[in-house]
Amino acid sequence: MTEHKPKPSDYIGIFDSGIGGLTVADAIHRLLPNEALVYFGDTAHLPYGDKSPELIRTYAKEITNFLLHEKKCKAIVIACNTASAAAYELLRDTFKGTVPVINVIDPMIEAVIADDTIKKVGIIATKTTIASGTYQEKFSRRKPSLKFAALATPLLASMIEEGFYNNNISTAVLQKYLSFPGFNHIDAMVLACTHYPLIKNEIAAFFHDKIKIFDSAVVVAQKLKWILEKENLAADEKAGENVFYVSDLTDSFEKSTRIFFKGNIQLKHLPLWEKKDS
Ligand code: DGL
Repeated sequence: MTEHKPKPSDYIGIFDSGIGGLTVADAIHRLLPNEALVYFGDTAHLPYGDKSPELIRTYAKEITNFLLHEKKCKAIVIACNTASAAAYELLRDTFKGTVPVINVIDPMIEAVIADDTIKKVGIIATKTTIASGTYQEKFSRRKPSLKFAALATPLLASMIEEGFYNNNISTAVLQKYLSFPGFNHIDAMVLACTHYPLIKNEIAAFFHDKIKIFDSAVVVAQKLKWILEKENLAADEKAGENVFYVSDLTDSFEKSTRIFFKGNIQLKHLPLWEKKDS
């Protein structure tokens, strides 16, 4: 177990299947501007949303090893609902006692169940997240009185990544998904994919701005702040520059980064899998 005890640096390690998790990185950067972030987007294996949980666990473990052992991160944020659903328990147990590992699902569950005005909630996410039953199980266990309806919305992440949001294409796709009869009489919608903050306003508009919309970016940033302060790990002065790695780099990813992360960032290609795949 000693190999899992690197000396923490000042980095916060954040990963996702691709660049959607930059919405979480952006919220962390805004809330905790002193922290230095190292982001890893596994674009070589994008999308995670239709992969098996076993495969996602293999990727997540490898990325976390890189963030811990090579970048010496002091905390890990799984900025992907699909990876949180498939791999959080494995990462938490594997790296227990080293650094905090934060998933995007639990802070969202906490935020929803704390709101007593919500009687019925909708959940939209990738196929793998919905099939995992993680949100459904946690809501049922933590607040049995809460009604919920879950729907896989597999087109949304790729649609957003290709820049289709706030236009007639995204309106048509959302119209189809959100008309799901299970969503009748919901008081809130959980955006259980880190790409979806980009279409938050469109979803709110579909429901005539009458329901609450929860996305993981801000609640996860708040949870991270709370943990860093509790564990005495927060940076009290600027810890360094943020770095952004992707396992495959294309022009399209470079262009799309700006829609997910407001600052000017440069993606670096880090072929983490090359040696293993060959
Ligand atoms: N951003 C990922 C999530 O939160 C979904 C994208 C993918 O399918 O890889 O689930």
